[in-house]
Amino acid sequence: MHILQTIQAVRDWRRQAGRVAFVPTMGNLHDGHLALVREARQRGDAVIVSIFVNRLQFGQGEDFDSYPRTFEADRAKLQAAGVDALFLPDERELYPRIRQDFNVEPPHLQNELCGAFRPGHFRGVATVVTKLFNIVQPDVACFGKKDFQQLAIIRAMVDDLNMPIDIVPVDTGRADDGLALSSRNGYLSADERAEAPRLYRNLRQMHDALAAGSNQYADLEAAARADLEAHGWQVDYIEVRAARTLDIAHAGEHQLVVLAAARLGKTRLIDNIEVQR
Ligand code: PAJ
Repeated sequence: MHILQTIQAVRDWRRQAGRVAFVPTMGNLHDGHLALVREARQRGDAVIVSIFVNRLQFGQGEDFDSYPRTFEADRAKLQAAGVDALFLPDERELYPRIRQDFNVEPPHLQNELCGAFRPGHFRGVATVVTKLFNIVQPDVACFGKKDFQQLAIIRAMVDDLNMPIDIVPVDTGRADDGLALSSRNGYLSADERAEAPRLYRNLRQMHDALAAGSNQYADLEAAARADLEAHGWQVDYIEVRAARTLDIAHAGEHQLVVLAAARLGKTRLIDNIEVQR
């Protein structure tokens, strides 16, 4: 596995790599990330993964400094998964003026759902993903459905800005009890970890009611919120939306997604479930 630490090294590697599939990450890799790598291997001649904890997408008071950095374990997992190249951008090379002068501004969706609680987050994501795309110049890039709003914004960006890249969505990897795998699960205490699957259980219940034909979106949202709050959660949002656009869902919509973000103690967890009916 090539370890690439400069933009020039990536450009040199890319020239002889054929069809390239790219998996951008912030490291602390788990089986959810490795499912993206497996998908990428099916999609290209060569797979490149990046690990970069992107300061631009963290808000004031968020966990940029404490975000888990586990390079040796990550390197071993990627090597074992047959990754061809690992790109480790240097922050001073990616952001030489510290601030980023030109930014990619997503549409209004960046202020909704997670964006309402993390101002500037999706601008930071769209900007770094554009920079990484311009450096790596992949044919394909894989993104997890775990971050459903991020995936929607990246797809819309690639479409609207005519970036010649296929965006491949990958299903959410979960622990046996249903909890979506996340680097932030490591922040949970043992008691919180035992409580954490309640989020997905509520999404499943909403899924079943919606799949059976319910259009009582507000009632279902309120019931899930009440159950979580009764068990010590602080709920940022839990909402039924149209799966394709993330617009507000109208009654009778066939393709829905329920998205949620809620905090257990200091840890903010997100999850979602799609509903076809
Ligand atoms: P990170 O949280 O490291 O996630 C990297 C990729 O792995 C994203 O596409 C994310 O959706 C996916 N992923 C995370 N957990 C997953 C799970 N349980 N199942 C399936 N896929 C999962 O998302 C980011 O980093 C950053 O915002 C990034 C896109 C790298 C830009 O900085």
